[in-house]
Amino acid sequence: MTTTTDSAAFTGAVGSGRTRVEGRDKVTGAARYAGEIPFAELAHGWLVLSTVARGRVRPLEDAAVLAMPGVLAVLHHGNAPRVDTGYVGMLGRPNPVVGLFQHDRVPFVGWPVALVVAETSEQAREAAETLVVRYDQEPHDVAFVAGHPGAYTPRNSTMADAETATGDMEAELRAAAFVVDEEYATPEEHHSSMEPHAATARWDGGRLDIVDSNQGSSWVAAELAQLFSLDPSSVRVRSEHVGGAFGSKGLSPHQVAAVMATTVLHRPVRVVLTRRQMFSLVGFRSPTAQRIRLAADADGRLRAFDHRSQSLTSTVYEFVETSAVLGRVLYDADAHHTLHTLVRLDVPTPTWMRAPGEAPGSFAVESALDELAEKCGVDPIALRARNEPAVGPVSGLPFSSRNVLACFEEGARRFGWADRDPRPGLRREGRWLIGTGTAAATYPSGVGPSTAAVTAEPDGSFTVRINAADIGTGARTAMNLVAADALAVDPDRILVRIGDSDLGPAMIAGGSTGTRSWAWAVKLAAGELRERLALGGGIPPEGITARSNTAEAIGALAKMERHSFGAQFAEAAVDVTTGEVRVRRLLGIYAAGTIVNPLTARSQFIGGMTWGLSMALHEEAIRDRASGGHVGADLAGYHFAAHADVPVIEADWVEDHVPGDPVGIKGIGEIGVVGVAAAIANAVWHATGVRHRELPIRPDRVL
Ligand code: MOS
Repeated sequence: MTTTTDSAAFTGAVGSGRTRVEGRDKVTGAARYAGEIPFAELAHGWLVLSTVARGRVRPLEDAAVLAMPGVLAVLHHGNAPRVDTGYVGMLGRPNPVVGLFQHDRVPFVGWPVALVVAETSEQAREAAETLVVRYDQEPHDVAFVAGHPGAYTPRNSTMADAETATGDMEAELRAAAFVVDEEYATPEEHHSSMEPHAATARWDGGRLDIVDSNQGSSWVAAELAQLFSLDPSSVRVRSEHVGGAFGSKGLSPHQVAAVMATTVLHRPVRVVLTRRQMFSLVGFRSPTAQRIRLAADADGRLRAFDHRSQSLTSTVYEFVETSAVLGRVLYDADAHHTLHTLVRLDVPTPTWMRAPGEAPGSFAVESALDELAEKCGVDPIALRARNEPAVGPVSGLPFSSRNVLACFEEGARRFGWADRDPRPGLRREGRWLIGTGTAAATYPSGVGPSTAAVTAEPDGSFTVRINAADIGTGARTAMNLVAADALAVDPDRILVRIGDSDLGPAMIAGGSTGTRSWAWAVKLAAGELRERLALGGGIPPEGITARSNTAEAIGALAKMERHSFGAQFAEAAVDVTTGEVRVRRLLGIYAAGTIVNPLTARSQFIGGMTWGLSMALHEEAIRDRASGGHVGADLAGYHFAAHADVPVIEADWVEDHVPGDPVGIKGIGEIGVVGVAAAIANAVWHATGVRHRELPIRPDRVL
């Protein structure tokens, strides 16, 4: 049979709202997650974590536990296979927490000290909880305080420069008509994806086969290969369905533990993290202590912009929460300074969490802008318009496209901003004081090299192979739509295969880079396939396959400031008798390039905004200074927004054409959360006349 792609050419898949192609499987339970896939002879591992914050593990006495029913092995620093943590991976050195059981040192509460493997999960847990671990304890410090004496300027993180500086800061501050100089604080916040981390590992015909839940199977496979000194082609990682992840699902101790155990026991081993274990094993968002200095002329034009942010890291690894990057994109000033500092504490290493940097950074910057607007007597949106940069404020590079003011304009119209009386504390409905606030949002539009293959099958269908990760966002469906337009065929004729490192290397679902990166590779391969099909001839039984690799095209991209932008609007009601804050309305308008699937894109934005609401009002992990561990490290103790907290949220977007861009798609994963906490804090100020510079805005802080 001859397949042509352009008889009755199909167009317009991108931009049409499509439900998830795997949606039915997910809601009927047919979609199986990493911890559910059956294996014959499966054994179960249960991690044992340290209960002290600093010290050494004494030699483990495991005889009693080994004699318990069903117990197959106890792995610990005295007997575990050796691994190599000296490599440099895609995102730099590995976090030492994945170097399981290699030594006796304990750098935080919740460090893995043993893995108990048994016939059943229950037996493994019972034995793990029976195992007595003794420590030689040392004094620890887990207290994150502003201006910590140990604070230092890190070497530049993989994400951003530690410091940028232009102009004469002190001179501009002196010459200004208005100065805002305030400190802002955000707490430690935690990942808790619906599906906790889970991996099953087995040796299969000389290959290591891992079923996992992650944000990038190519990435996890490459890291495991290096860690265990294996040829990359002998490691396969699959991750078909992922029940949520926003920075926490890379390489974690559970995959490494499963690989070690299957290597020792010669049978498949599954390791699933508990909700509590996630609090120390998969990373979290560092608390921040930020200082902002803004200096402006009488009309609100910025003379000085100074943003310093202190965050924490562990004693074993340097991770920077890059909160000060926001102003490098959003605001111009005659003198411009941004700085990150770090404090090393006896705590787990933080990691990326939805809009790493921008989420806490925007709380400080966008609150400070609102404070400046109040001082200058300029409308908050007009103030932002007045300080709109022509080029990157720090880089001097042109923007690929920048429609932040269009977002504010559309948002203001829909929200009814024009009718707003700027004076605080004036609107009251019974016990409730009412206010509105706004904030800008931005997040980088990054891209990473990916490979894809598109096959014309003899039956007239098409198969797309791209090792994308669908972390719940609808990535599989998005690739279906992109391929449909690129092939000019109906999306129903296309099968998209993702989540398998054997599909070839591709970018991770992280940093809002996935859709842009994968779509590029799919378009290239589909374009090539169309050319080959246009030559005519039949389709052989194995089909005709075209492959792509975007590395070269990405290398040829012009250097520019590439970002998504947005404007957040919030209406808050504050109960003057209880201090309760309720968000009544949220509106987010975004400029994020081509929106591939409006249905799932809207969900992404709303999900981000809900996260921002949760950050504004609820989320904080409390560390007990005496033990060094968390108080309430579970979903009862870690408070986050529930359905009843979330109002009807509106999210929409403006036209955002990126001239000359080969893909036209930007990222939308992170930007929904950016600025939301500031918009809510600004609304609380507008309601009450009181500024809240510390998150979350708890009732006891409001009263
Ligand atoms: Mo990221 S914080 O996994 O998009």
